[in-house]
Amino acid sequence: MTYPHTRLRRARATAWSRALHRETLLTPADLIWPLFVTEGEGVEEPIGSLPGVSRWSVDGIVARAKEAVELGIPCLALFPNTQPERRSDDGREALNPDNLMCRALRAVRDACGDGVGLLTDVALDPYTAHGQDGLVDANGYVINDETVEVLVGQSLNQARAGADIIAPSDMMDGRIAAIREALEGEGYANVQIMSYAAKYASAFYGPFRDAVGSTGLLKGDKKTYQMDPANTEEALREVELDIAEGADSVMVKPGLPYLDIVRRVKEAFEVPVFAYQVSGEYAMIEAAAAAGAGDRDALVLETLLAFKRAGCSGVLTYHAPLAARLLRG
Ligand code: PBG
Repeated sequence: MTYPHTRLRRARATAWSRALHRETLLTPADLIWPLFVTEGEGVEEPIGSLPGVSRWSVDGIVARAKEAVELGIPCLALFPNTQPERRSDDGREALNPDNLMCRALRAVRDACGDGVGLLTDVALDPYTAHGQDGLVDANGYVINDETVEVLVGQSLNQARAGADIIAPSDMMDGRIAAIREALEGEGYANVQIMSYAAKYASAFYGPFRDAVGSTGLLKGDKKTYQMDPANTEEALREVELDIAEGADSVMVKPGLPYLDIVRRVKEAFEVPVFAYQVSGEYAMIEAAAAAGAGDRDALVLETLLAFKRAGCSGVLTYHAPLAARLLRG
């Protein structure tokens, strides 16, 4: 049957009918809130390239965690801004049980118990003097197997401090199996792994590198380990390997420009898929809103809904607190 009997606008005519026909639901429970930790007490440092986002000292992170609980945001993702004097070529600060990340984990756990999930990024870039995610050889090449050994130590360090979800973002080969084995070996059977399985060498990470203080340090790029933005099949192979190695869930990153990857991964594997709406995407929305090119609240909710529609179980987004407030009305 076609027009005039079929009129798709009929279902769109009223708000109640649109609500009834809605296929996708976005709620605060879909959000993971990335937060940047810095040294000190009572410190809030606004990040110039991420308007509206700050680095917080540990006490501020605890306050944000309580805010997340109130807003119904189930999980935080923590990233440290390591002091320059604690950065080294081998990134050994990542293994320090009293590093900024571990102190933040313990403080949030003390304050919130199991009320909020704690996801930790595994990669050495916040700790290395050269800004790369792993150990480098004399030519500046990031060496895989030696790096994996350090990442295993970093993961155990985070698990001991209370991390619930270990999220390796380094793109080394074989790291998921190595980390899973080490976690099992130390009795962390219930610590999850969310693998940054399809992480692209993207131009959208600029403000993040400001936020963790690695902008001036990084020489060159990350193209020998992060994926070529031109590739899709390779993403499926990455996801397949990470699932086989023991990942509980996988991530696609960046987000909006890679929704085709989300969809393909979701169709190919029965596994929870998350996406990271990264710093450059956040900055674009903020810039558009500031320029009067769009309504911030509407842009935020529409983009986040798009992740759900594409097949995501949830989204890491710096807009998490704003979105949760809007969704709660
Ligand atoms: C660290 C890491 C990065 C991001 C998350 N984890 C930066 C990078 O790979 O250079 C980017 C997140 C963002 O841009 O919001 N490996």
